Amino acid sequence: LKIQEYRPESFIDFTQADNVAAYQAALKKVRAELVGKHYPLIIDGVRVDTAEKLESINPCNTSEIVGSTAKATVDDAQKALDGAWKAFESWKKWTPDARARILLKASSLLKARRLEACALMSIEVGKNYAEADVEVAEAIDFLEYYARSAMKYSGFGAAETTWYAGEENGLMFMPIGVGVSISPWNFPCAIYLGMLAAPIVAGNCVIAKPAEDSGLIAGFVTDIMLEAGLPAGVLQFLPGVGEEVGEYLTTHAKTRFITFTGSRGVGLHINEVAAKVQPGQKWIKKVILELGGKDGMIVDETADIETAVTAAVQGAFGFNGQKCSAMSRLIVVDSVYDDVVGQFVERAGKLRVGTGEDNANVTAVVNEESFEKIGKYIGIGKGEAKLLLGGETPGEHGGKQGYYVQPTIFGDVPADARIAQEEIFGPVISVIRARDWDHALDIANSTEYGLTGGVCSRDRARLEQARHEFEAGNLYFNRKITGAIVGVQPFGGYNMSGTDSKAGGPDYLANFMQLKTVTERW
Ligand code: SER
Repeated sequence: LKIQEYRPESFIDFTQADNVAAYQAALKKVRAELVGKHYPLIIDGVRVDTAEKLESINPCNTSEIVGSTAKATVDDAQKALDGAWKAFESWKKWTPDARARILLKASSLLKARRLEACALMSIEVGKNYAEADVEVAEAIDFLEYYARSAMKYSGFGAAETTWYAGEENGLMFMPIGVGVSISPWNFPCAIYLGMLAAPIVAGNCVIAKPAEDSGLIAGFVTDIMLEAGLPAGVLQFLPGVGEEVGEYLTTHAKTRFITFTGSRGVGLHINEVAAKVQPGQKWIKKVILELGGKDGMIVDETADIETAVTAAVQGAFGFNGQKCSAMSRLIVVDSVYDDVVGQFVERAGKLRVGTGEDNANVTAVVNEESFEKIGKYIGIGKGEAKLLLGGETPGEHGGKQGYYVQPTIFGDVPADARIAQEEIFGPVISVIRARDWDHALDIANSTEYGLTGGVCSRDRARLEQARHEFEAGNLYFNRKITGAIVGVQPFGGYNMSGTDSKAGGPDYLANFMQLKTVTERW
């Protein structure tokens, strides 16, 4: 397979009026063609509907039902599992190049419908134009990158072994079987697609369970994968409720691997139930977890303040802080605290609140559960620290009911306060005052998480120290701490943030393979 070297997609420039117009045209098209659509399950290539359905609600206007999916039962989950194992018998024999071609075809189909995918997410989960565009670019990147990753596993002897007299030795990478991919609503296109494309291109079959809040974009992307030529049963589309079908599949003896992105609580539960061997189970399940974060960014007295403030605003409030990578703790050295925090609050106060469709900076949070949880933490914060900005959860905007939360900043937050330790997953930031650099680094490492982190400093020795000592899977200097690019910044966290499996990294596919060393004596 002759293809050019991987290069990440570039992003659309929405300061250009024609790009904005194209986005608005895509919103119209999506409203005409996709809103109101119902996506059934897909089991063995056949669309199967269910008695009950899951409705997807527009978070910026909760009176609008965006569409629906079927709601799988455990019986459907069992059928999906059986069918996937049947499909595995032939899929595992496809060459990596042949499997990669399907991802490349899917990438070209998604490129052609890029703005539609974006517009659908604006309506379904409230992404503004740039957030949606960066995400669809990432989805395309995952397809392109994993296609090329698969190709390096072609054939016997895919990894180098040392020569030994009188023998031929080789190391083969083999697919492992059928797994479950349980993906989140916050990157419902990119992470959904990346988490299924990687195991599939490595020769496995996947039951994909999208998040309940984002079934439409998942259905849209699944159709693209099937249109690209995936054989029936390789990808089973199984929207349903986590506690029902998710639980059934993660505990099942015939599940070979589980890949999950979501909260720490659910991830640890999956890890626990997956570890228990069921009657008839022949393997130790592989579990790949991408969990939460309480990501901190340090600003020291040598930092360029303008750079630091821009990084803080972008990292904190992009997609309303609903990213595991979002900056939720800003740790500022005392001597520049007033200046940095003053500018941070001023800039955050200018963010425009509104809908994704109107391309607002901050939109509504995804659902009622998030809205309630964030509101509860704002209440806790008012008792723990000084409120500097926001602090209200109006629950409406422009006369429409929606899960709106004001961008909220608390200052002088004690490092051990609940709002400084627990993941809130919304536009609520804790600013922590540090005595000096050493104290700031201690604070940064004082949570149980370790996903992203950042340092804004011009002190070379400190940056070198942070390189080694800052506990984060993705560490950024002098820029925002979100927006990892596939292949450029392999992504995944330490400690309670997950298994550090590095999505979009050179070894990611190995998570879904087993190695066999074969020796023949001549
Ligand atoms: N990969 C995303 C980021 O870096 C988070 O999932 O922001």
